[in-house]
Amino acid sequence: MELNQNLKKVKPSGIRKLFDLAQNRKDVISFGIGEPDFITPAHVREAAKQAIDDGYTHYTPNAGFYDLREVLAKKLIETNKIPVKTEQVIVTAGGTQALFSAFYILLNPGEELIVPDPGFLVYGSQVTLAGGNPVYLPIREKNGFQIDPDELKRLITKKTKAILINSPSNPTGMVINEEVMREIAKIAIEHNLMVISDEIYEDILFDGKKHISIASFPDMAERTISIFGFSKSYAMTGWRLAYLVCPEFLINEMIKVQQNTAVCPNSVTQRAAMYGLEHQEKTKLVIEEMRTAYQERRDILIAGLNEIDGFHCLVPEGAFYAFPNITKTGKNSEELSMYLLDHCGVVTVPGDAFGQYGGGYLRFSFATSSDMIKRGIAQIKEGIKKL
Ligand SMILES: Cc1ncc(COP(=O)(O)O)c(C=O)c1O
Repeated sequence: MELNQNLKKVKPSGIRKLFDLAQNRKDVISFGIGEPDFITPAHVREAAKQAIDDGYTHYTPNAGFYDLREVLAKKLIETNKIPVKTEQVIVTAGGTQALFSAFYILLNPGEELIVPDPGFLVYGSQVTLAGGNPVYLPIREKNGFQIDPDELKRLITKKTKAILINSPSNPTGMVINEEVMREIAKIAIEHNLMVISDEIYEDILFDGKKHISIASFPDMAERTISIFGFSKSYAMTGWRLAYLVCPEFLINEMIKVQQNTAVCPNSVTQRAAMYGLEHQEKTKLVIEEMRTAYQERRDILIAGLNEIDGFHCLVPEGAFYAFPNITKTGKNSEELSMYLLDHCGVVTVPGDAFGQYGGGYLRFSFATSSDMIKRGIAQIKEGIKKL
């Protein structure tokens, strides 16, 4: 039987492959996982239990509960400086669903969408599934993993529909600086392109960095779909909750996609997140505790990585990933990742799982305890000596 041709172009995840291998081994230290090791804040968990007892067991409006959208719109205006009406906020079943809806709405067959390489691995696959062609924008260490606006311009063709940006970034931990962000906005306006801005890690920033939303720049809100979520900020990956803000001309189309796919985001999850948003003092404290822990772990990890022979690692400014260059070990990403698993009992993700320009790097997640990080680094140091 001839199945959807687009599926044939989508490769299985390089991350899963390694996790499956690691699962059968005892005592491995994992730097592989891309989610907070923290549990969802207690008051949010309690609110979910209460929501079940209060009977929030039914379908909700397609775009999410209106009161939740109102609170999110207020947050977007006050914190992200994005001018929005409540109707422009659509609550989704996770950031992944929001991304897919955005690609699906924008792309006609054969149209191009520029995505970062290395980048979150579902971008390219989802663009393909939505019928478009992903065009990969190299993200280079020599630029501090910043987007090079000239390189971006060179990739634009008549078929280009949109540019995707992700800051703070998975897998590099890079935060797009304001100057580059303004350049990207200028390019989008000049070439009449949409921007999809994945801001799922907006709350995980280090060294006093402030998050900037591209949709807050002049004339950008009307051409940007911005995606935010609870998975990373609230440590709620399993709950499946995120939200996007889109220009008014896309609202009905977004709701159409939602109606015909997820129907609505989970009712209990929405009430729990709403409680978290309404009890900001408590929630902010927990978010800050997690952020501080990530920063401490980052410092331990980066110092350790830079002491390993053949490793060189820039300091990530956000998210919870480090992306060391390992070319001087003489092994490629996959070989070294396998070696670290086999000989050091450590799980990492080969950088090229995130795109071809990730070759020569490994991704380390520091969403794990400081003790684990120290032990992992010690084991790698020993193992690398025997290379
Ligand atoms: C950059 C980026 N965007 C989006 C997501 C998806 O998050 P969600 O759990 O909300 O689907 C992830 C998850 O790892 C991510 O790293």
